[in-house]
Amino acid sequence: MRHIVISILFLSVFSVCIFSQNKEIIEVRTNDLTMIFSALKNEKVSFQYWGDKINDTSAFLKKRFKRQPDSNQDTDPQLFPAYGGRYYLNPALRLTHSDGVLTTELVFAGTEKKVMDENRIETIIHLKDLFYPVLVDVRFVAYQKENIICQSVVVTNAGKKNFSVENVASTYIPLHAQSYYLTHFHGTWAAEMQMKEEKLTPGVKVIESKKEVRATQSESPSFLLSLNGPAQENSGEIYAGSLAWSGNFALSFEFDESGLLNILGGINPFASTYHLQPNQKLETPEMVLTYSSKGKGQITRNYHDWSRKYALAHGAKIRPIILNSWEGAYFNFDEKTLTDMMDNAAKFGIEMFVLDDGWFGNNYPRNGDNAGLGDWQVNLKKLPHGIGYLADHAVAKGLKFGIWIEPEMVNPESDLAKKHPEWVVKSGKRDILPMRNQWLLDLSNPKVQDFVFNTFDQVVSMSPNISYIKWDANRHVDNVGSDYLSKENQTHFWYDYVKGLYSVYERIRAKYPDIEIQLCSSGGGRLDFGALKYHDEFWASDNTNPLNRLFIQYGSNTFFPAIATAAHVSTSPNHQTGQMLPLKFRFDVAMTGRLGMELQPKDIVGEDYEFAKNAIIDYKMIRPIVQFGDLYRLISPYDENGWSSLMYVSKDKKQAAFFAFSLKYHDRTTFFENKLNGLDPGKNYKITELNIKSGQRTFNGTEKTYTGDYLMKVGIGLNLGNPFESTVLLVKED
Ligand code: DGJ
Repeated sequence: MRHIVISILFLSVFSVCIFSQNKEIIEVRTNDLTMIFSALKNEKVSFQYWGDKINDTSAFLKKRFKRQPDSNQDTDPQLFPAYGGRYYLNPALRLTHSDGVLTTELVFAGTEKKVMDENRIETIIHLKDLFYPVLVDVRFVAYQKENIICQSVVVTNAGKKNFSVENVASTYIPLHAQSYYLTHFHGTWAAEMQMKEEKLTPGVKVIESKKEVRATQSESPSFLLSLNGPAQENSGEIYAGSLAWSGNFALSFEFDESGLLNILGGINPFASTYHLQPNQKLETPEMVLTYSSKGKGQITRNYHDWSRKYALAHGAKIRPIILNSWEGAYFNFDEKTLTDMMDNAAKFGIEMFVLDDGWFGNNYPRNGDNAGLGDWQVNLKKLPHGIGYLADHAVAKGLKFGIWIEPEMVNPESDLAKKHPEWVVKSGKRDILPMRNQWLLDLSNPKVQDFVFNTFDQVVSMSPNISYIKWDANRHVDNVGSDYLSKENQTHFWYDYVKGLYSVYERIRAKYPDIEIQLCSSGGGRLDFGALKYHDEFWASDNTNPLNRLFIQYGSNTFFPAIATAAHVSTSPNHQTGQMLPLKFRFDVAMTGRLGMELQPKDIVGEDYEFAKNAIIDYKMIRPIVQFGDLYRLISPYDENGWSSLMYVSKDKKQAAFFAFSLKYHDRTTFFENKLNGLDPGKNYKITELNIKSGQRTFNGTEKTYTGDYLMKVGIGLNLGNPFESTVLLVKED
């Protein structure tokens, strides 16, 4: 069977290059999408089409896309426009050649296709400069089933002298429509991934980060671009991209005089000139692209399917329910505090205990955020029996054990800072500016890479019962500079830091393929597919207020799947908010992701205790649907009416988990009705309400049977009206 599939793929690969009078049509295809380029040897490669599948591509041999305004020639947009010739928009590539020449013109030099496996086809389009020894490979990996195309670029110095890469994007996409609506994600600490949508007007809109570390706390390298109207959930043409890169990035949307929208995405070129020596290559990160003519719901499902398979560690494995010590204990604990927490967690049916910050440092004990970072030895005053004792206790209680590290950082008050001042990121003689009382280690330096790897290695080696690491990073880069890089290459810092980080991740994954790792950076400060592929999950935000979380998770889950979304129930009010929110609402929101708790479990008593215990049982029942199912957003929390609802549907459409939330006061005469989505119209479904608190049901059709057709066309009614009332339903084939 495998052979047959591969031979069919080979046939389709050979059929994707159509030749006519030396002109080639180059196709990049997934099951439902097609990208088309046309090429003539030694001429620029034209970007012809990107959208729903097209079978007959012969017409593209004749098609013209755009007229050059100041010449009589028709000029199609290029595959990868370099700065030079008549290209006066922001270029995808800008070089300074060895003789100081500032322009580059890329022409077609051939193409290659490779069937990587049953699901992935690689296409490389080779470009070269006509006068200078510069090779540029534009690479596409097309994921057939998930309808995802990853685009990246390699620039090679094929000459004998150095040249400088001033900027190189991962992707260039030209679009032509009546209007363009950009959705991007903006935020700050405790309010990450807030969705913004705007109509683009002539000019350039840039979304970027120059923070390098914790880059996505304020902006995200993920976007949606809707044609001819705001993005809809189930209709309309939408292009999407998400840059797999954990450092500085720039997305630019340039609306030009011909009405074309020119999208560029990649590493931020700001202060980042990269000098390439002979035979050296510079490889960009991948831009993860997809398209839907049926709205953003399908975009999300494409990303989730792809991510679970290709951009997430252990994407096919159920995630445990976690109790994290942070909000329950902060830095104030001893052994008994922690073992008590574990004992209580076990009673709730929790499956893992994670010891957060505060367990290390002896000369400079980590009793607050002002000391100890860098000194990764257990604090013997707080924990005299070591980490092994705690991990064994967890396992004896039937829990897994995890532990927190922040290995890229150092407190000035630490043994490490005194021993290795040359490892700290700094700008010559200027002050090293602390942030959260800490400095950043220079991961462009291989010795620092070794230190970070060894830290991970040593921490994990403290006990065979450590099965999870929370990797945090709580500051970004300012006053940039490296003692390791030469003075000519200081601008390499941005690229080399991320590459250094990824090489550490690679070494860790080679040695510890099974360990679970959480991606955290003051919450969602490092949320991108480049880092996520080495991790099992991400901490979406330090804000566990469920009302705020509905928005943060809405943004995060537009691209990143629920299975990876750590969502914890905390006390209310807690450190982020004075607002008191019901326990049921807190659980119901957290259950839309990877459920966990972040509080003192002994504080949940009486009726709340019974509720929480049962909610965990209910979550275990719907967990495979939430973690592996298809997400259908029904009502956005951004809608003015003050409701929010969503559902996950199992791939075989036999089960679904439905969630609805009331976000404001609704008059009791307002009846909440909601049409479901994603079900099989021909199946019968029984609906059961879960997470019922104090016997108060919100759905009076519980245990009744409905057809999928009815549920999707007529919907269900719920008694939700007051702020922070919520519903969870199990919808199961009868
Ligand atoms: C920031 C993280 O986001 C929190 O969850 C917690 O781990 C603290 N750091 C600990 O310092």
